[in-house]
Amino acid sequence: MAVTIKTPEEIEKMRVAGRLAAEVLEMIGEYVKPGVTTGELDRICHDYIVNTQQAIPAPLNYGNPPFPKSICTSVNHVICHGIPSDDKILKKGDSVNIDVTVIKDGYHGDTSKMFFVGEAKPADKRLVDITQECMYKGIALVKPGVQLGDIGHVIQQHAESNYYTVVREYCGHGIGKGFHEEPQVMHYGRPGTGMALKEGMCFTIEPMINQGKPQSKLLGDQWTVITKDRKLSAQWEHTVLVTSDGVEVLTRRQEEVFPWEQ
Ligand code: MF3
Ligand code: CO
Ligand code: CO
Repeated sequence: MAVTIKTPEEIEKMRVAGRLAAEVLEMIGEYVKPGVTTGELDRICHDYIVNTQQAIPAPLNYGNPPFPKSICTSVNHVICHGIPSDDKILKKGDSVNIDVTVIKDGYHGDTSKMFFVGEAKPADKRLVDITQECMYKGIALVKPGVQLGDIGHVIQQHAESNYYTVVREYCGHGIGKGFHEEPQVMHYGRPGTGMALKEGMCFTIEPMINQGKPQSKLLGDQWTVITKDRKLSAQWEHTVLVTSDGVEVLTRRQEEVFPWEQ
């Protein structure tokens, strides 16, 4: 399916879905502490999405083999798509990406955030902060006429100038009625290449940045993706809308101040 341009009515639904996804991340923060399991975090998010938001957790039964849980929890050297488990107890110093996708009124909102369990090692905090900056630098460029290669390039440039590496095997994506629509949004690239953005497009920017080598490995569960060298990986994700003159971040959290607004 080709890239879709959202109508004003669809954009309003994307705003609602995006806000709900953001609110799940706002809600779960206080539960991320030493001793909690990722299975428990999944149950709390699932119940909140289904009962409070009356929405659908998009990951549950998604894909093949069907993803078995309602959120992704990717701890330490897990790059993405970590499966929540009652056996995975979080401990001080762990980092965890919580990735939430909700469906409301037929439309998807997709966002993720890094959390630290207890206090972070300074080197780990630095990776997480630079990864968030990579995402923001990509988002800040979004407006009609800008090309996908321009976005990939600023992300890659910021990661590599800080001696980190960009995961190549997974990327951002168009989003709407579908969870993963066209186009693919790479987190690396060359300026002046790739599809030009148009008003009304919605897509995610979700860089995965590694402390060590960029290579990933898919585990036997067919979902969990880890760094081949078992070094730390970080990821942040927002769903954005291309407006007439810039960008609207559909999954913005209340706590967030964007760098381009300071
Ligand atoms: N939320 C992920 C993304 O950002 C996709 C997760 S697919 C799942 O695209 F099945 F693992 F949930
Ligand atoms: Co996504
Ligand atoms: Co996601």
